[in-house]
Amino acid sequence: MAKYSVFDCSVIELDRHHSDRKGNLSVVENGITLPFDVKRIYYLYDVPGGESRGSHAHKELEQLIVAASGSFRVTLDDGRTKRTFFLNRPYQGLYVKPGLWRDLDDFSSGAVCVVLASDVYRAEDYIRDYKDFIKFRNE
Ligand code: TYD
Repeated sequence: MAKYSVFDCSVIELDRHHSDRKGNLSVVENGITLPFDVKRIYYLYDVPGGESRGSHAHKELEQLIVAASGSFRVTLDDGRTKRTFFLNRPYQGLYVKPGLWRDLDDFSSGAVCVVLASDVYRAEDYIRDYKDFIKFRNE
């Protein structure tokens, strides 16, 4: 399986419909917005200030990470290079390729982190130990 680098990940601009009177609406649609079809959505919220989430890699899962409200930081790591993204716009999403370590931190108060994922939850797809991750990258 291909091993991706942090430079294969980028912030995608989502379709945005603006109304001066009624506010904004953004859309993610299978077959149009993303290079994968969405099978699962989950969201992180009420993350206490100073807490971090993530600290794992996925072997195969692809994700789009969106700050639907507030802001937070995502640091991606391919075992050689780290790249940090600050997400604070509901109309932008960070597309994360498989096989990369991710840490999420610096959550603002009221932040909501919505994750659109390419597969259902599979515990065996996770690598939760950083040493195992480096081994996986070198396989
Ligand atoms: P975890 O992956 O540890 O959260 P994070 O990496 O964002 O800090 O998940 C927390 C708990 O939620 C863990 O017990 C697994 C469970 N979980 C599911 O049951 N289904 C899911 O789709 C996700 C993402 C987590």
